[in-house]
Amino acid sequence: MDLHVAAFYIAFATFSVSAIDQATVDYMATYMEVSYEVLDNLRDELRTFEAQITLTNRGSSIIKGDPWIIYFCHIRMIEPEHLPDPKGIIRDDVKITHIQGCMFTLEPTNSFKTIIPGGSKKIRFLGENWIVSKTDIMPNWYITSQHLHPRTIMNTAGESLSFAGDFDEVKKWKRYYFQDGKYKVHDLYDPYTTRYRFVLNNIKDHGKSPGHVVPTPLEIHIIDKQKILLNTRDWVVIYPERLSNEGLYLIDKLNILRSITQPLHRYIKLAIEEVRVKVNGSEKIIPEGYSLEIDPEAEFIKILGVDAAGVFYGIQTLFALIDEEGNVPKANISDAPRYPYRGMELDVARNFFEQKTIFKLLDLMAMYKLNKFHFHLTDDEGWRIEIQGLQELTEIGGQRCHDPSEERCIMSQLGSGPTIVGSGSGYYSKKQYQEILRYANQRHIEVIPEIDMPGHGHAVIKAMEARSKKMMNNQFLLIDHNDTSKYKSIQMYTDNAINPCISSSYAFIRKVIESLVTYHKDVMPLKIYHFGGDEVASGAWENSTACEDLMKNKWQIIEKKILKEYFVHQISNITFNYNLDLAAWEDGVMESGSKPFKREALQNKNVYAYAWDNIWEWGQSNRAYKLANAGYKVVMSQATHLYFDHPYEPDPEERGYYWAPRFTDTRKTFGFMPENLYNNADVARSGQPLTEEQVCGKDAKNCVKLEKPENIVGIQGHLWSETVRKPEQLDFMLFPRLLALAERAWHHASWEDIQENSIRKKRLNEDWELFANTIGYKELKRLDSFEVDYRVPPPGGMIKNGRLVTNTAFPGLVVQYSRNGGKSWHDVDDKAIIEGGEKLQLRTNFQTLSKTSSGSKLRNSSLSLSLSLSLSLSRY
Ligand SMILES: *[C@@H]1O[C@H](CO)[C@@H](O)[C@H](O)[C@H]1NC(C)=O
Ligand SMILES: *[C@@H]1O[C@H](CO)[C@@H](O)[C@H](O)[C@H]1NC(C)=O
Ligand SMILES: *[C@@H]1O[C@H](CO)[C@@H](O)[C@H](O)[C@H]1NC(C)=O
Ligand SMILES: *[C@@H]1O[C@H](CO)[C@@H](O)[C@H](O)[C@H]1NC(C)=O
Ligand SMILES: *[C@@H]1O[C@H](CO)[C@@H](O)[C@H](O)[C@H]1NC(C)=O
Ligand SMILES: *[C@@H]1O[C@H](CO)[C@@H](O)[C@H](O)[C@H]1NC(C)=O
Repeated sequence: MDLHVAAFYIAFATFSVSAIDQATVDYMATYMEVSYEVLDNLRDELRTFEAQITLTNRGSSIIKGDPWIIYFCHIRMIEPEHLPDPKGIIRDDVKITHIQGCMFTLEPTNSFKTIIPGGSKKIRFLGENWIVSKTDIMPNWYITSQHLHPRTIMNTAGESLSFAGDFDEVKKWKRYYFQDGKYKVHDLYDPYTTRYRFVLNNIKDHGKSPGHVVPTPLEIHIIDKQKILLNTRDWVVIYPERLSNEGLYLIDKLNILRSITQPLHRYIKLAIEEVRVKVNGSEKIIPEGYSLEIDPEAEFIKILGVDAAGVFYGIQTLFALIDEEGNVPKANISDAPRYPYRGMELDVARNFFEQKTIFKLLDLMAMYKLNKFHFHLTDDEGWRIEIQGLQELTEIGGQRCHDPSEERCIMSQLGSGPTIVGSGSGYYSKKQYQEILRYANQRHIEVIPEIDMPGHGHAVIKAMEARSKKMMNNQFLLIDHNDTSKYKSIQMYTDNAINPCISSSYAFIRKVIESLVTYHKDVMPLKIYHFGGDEVASGAWENSTACEDLMKNKWQIIEKKILKEYFVHQISNITFNYNLDLAAWEDGVMESGSKPFKREALQNKNVYAYAWDNIWEWGQSNRAYKLANAGYKVVMSQATHLYFDHPYEPDPEERGYYWAPRFTDTRKTFGFMPENLYNNADVARSGQPLTEEQVCGKDAKNCVKLEKPENIVGIQGHLWSETVRKPEQLDFMLFPRLLALAERAWHHASWEDIQENSIRKKRLNEDWELFANTIGYKELKRLDSFEVDYRVPPPGGMIKNGRLVTNTAFPGLVVQYSRNGGKSWHDVDDKAIIEGGEKLQLRTNFQTLSKTSSGSKLRNSSLSLSLSLSLSLSRY
């Protein structure tokens, strides 16, 4: 090691004297090709994997060991374990160094051997754990040298990820060994084959949509034969002034007029009334409930809501009933939500999404009766909301570019490239944020802003450092400069924990909360402030003198782990003074041993806890119930079922991280039972089925019972955006899974409460069959009319009696086959007779019938992996 260190210093000395020009950097960016390949995930149990970077010179000049530096994002720590280390590691004649987060550098040492034209250099190294998915590999690697412009390495630019090698071997697509008795075996996940998918998808095709409305209403009576043609101009809307928001919404969507007086017929009437719904046999008035009556004989439509939100949902149900010709059937519906909290979280920090993308999401949430938008506005990689008077937050914290000092912008992360053009940069101005609030308010969606602290604070810490340097004061300083603690967060930041022991941290938080309260006032008064609280790195503040002082003198706390609780009390007091409720991720309001902080010590009327970290075999899925029992309002956020940043299939070509389950498909979310939590436990991370003892521990002591069911306030889907850089990728990850989320949040299915496993699964399958047909025959077409780039499920298929038979997850989609490698395609039908040994390709072809979209669209199946798509056929 010492030799390497010496080599580094000599190399460094060489760097500082020699220099290269922009033309060399430009040459390398253009002609040097980078490829990245995972070689082996299984070499070392689950500790490390081996990977390789290859640099190939495609130009006509020699690439020399000039002092160039390649910057790239690698989401796993590069080993040996002493990284992060400012000295880096030397591999042959290059050096790799960890910067912050996922950013690493790769540079030549002074023993660098040149790469001749046509030649290449391979760099093998070890990374922590594993990488089994193509989207783990981030694009837009770039190269630079001191004082020169950084340039994106051309073959890594954009979204194709064509520089990433295929995951075409078991040791590349599987993660780890695990101990099974005396054997060590692989994880059980292989990419689906077409045949396997065929078995999975095997449900009855109803030939039409069996359902009328998603999410399922409480009570619905439809008589399809009697219809009203709604898209005529001679219908009017009647509504009282207090429903003008809903009235105008309806007028806008249906393009009809308002009438003040009630005509004899052809009217839609909106009103607020005490609508009672039947739940479990008793009649109740439930907030957001409504009734909808469509009477084709008398020619009227009545939407009565318990409140304005109820009327709004009645309108959504009416829209769901409009068919392609503009007809609605005779209907009598009474309906109310299962939960008051039906949420969707979106991370706009890792990658930024423009206001119009947020508007579209809000429209779609409203369509499916979701009512909480959890707006994850800050994280290590970005600060996305203007706070007036603190322009550094957005000017520096809201932009990512190449800036190792992080005084102009946050350093590039997650493949955002060297310049501020791209999804790493952007923020909402006060005005834009208020427009979002207004838009959400019109759709009965509460916006819950999250400012994630004290962990996940890299961007804000850097921004406020720059401010304090510029202003030469520490008014809003977020760290203790005397703090020598070394720590590393889960996303590999060593400088992202805001210090809870200095008063300037709270001065800052007070300023932010005050601004948010002001922004919300008059548009949508702020009710809940979400402070995050998750994933504070262990070791943070351990050697902070400010914390030592505080512990000695003020709070008289002896244990360092209590500092986080102290922080929560402070935030609680600040928010209480603004009359706000408080919200946090589960680990924000718990000690490390999963013990909730004393709820009584927090003054806020409600404190919401989002229960997310539920890897079953880790034994902490009980946190949701522990928190509810301790008096917290719990939002079910379980990563195993409700994290839509995870892939749909265990296929390396599918987008998404996979730390909790290997995948979550629409069916899995559909089957989530929020009040029957432990019965959701299906498989371990390895894919191995779980026993009751693994989930609940000895004597079932981990399966804490829910004593206060009233404290489970709802459920929420989540889209973390590390791998989501484009609005179409966002659509892909959310849809159609969001529909299953909405179904569970709104509708309590009867099978959820059945304890006997086989009966419950049977009922669930029957219900899924109806839902899947409804999606395939109806809802996807509706999504098409909103231009949603949902994921079209790749097909399943096999040969039965010499015939090709196929299916998809959602009956109603057409599967096509090609005999010539994709040059021409034919619908699969009875005539598809296949010769033995023939090689076919299949794809899902979704021909929309929706009039509102531009003709028929052809969509390829989203997976290109030949393993899962091409079908090698032989008769058997
Ligand atoms: C209805 O009854 C079931 C079974 O007793 C129970 O689990 C559920 O919570 C009840 N629903 C409501 C809304 O009270
Ligand atoms: C609709 O349902 C409600 C309650 O179930 C009932 O009172 C009413 O008569 C029904 N209306 C029609 C037109 O069927
Ligand atoms: C704090 O300082 C002690 C003594 O120098 C050291 O052993 C320990 O590792 C430090 N803790 C952290 C988290 O850096
Ligand atoms: C850091 O240490 C210096 C010297 O001991 C002290 O004057 C200063 O107040 C300390 N700063 C903080 C934030 O504790
Ligand atoms: C929060 O406010 C309560 C009541 O005023 C007070 O007792 C407590 O010390 C405060 N907590 C902190 C951490 O300042
Ligand atoms: C679908 O696949 C064909 C052949 O593989 C390709 O040429 C075409 O561009 C693809 N279309 C879309 C919309 O992706």
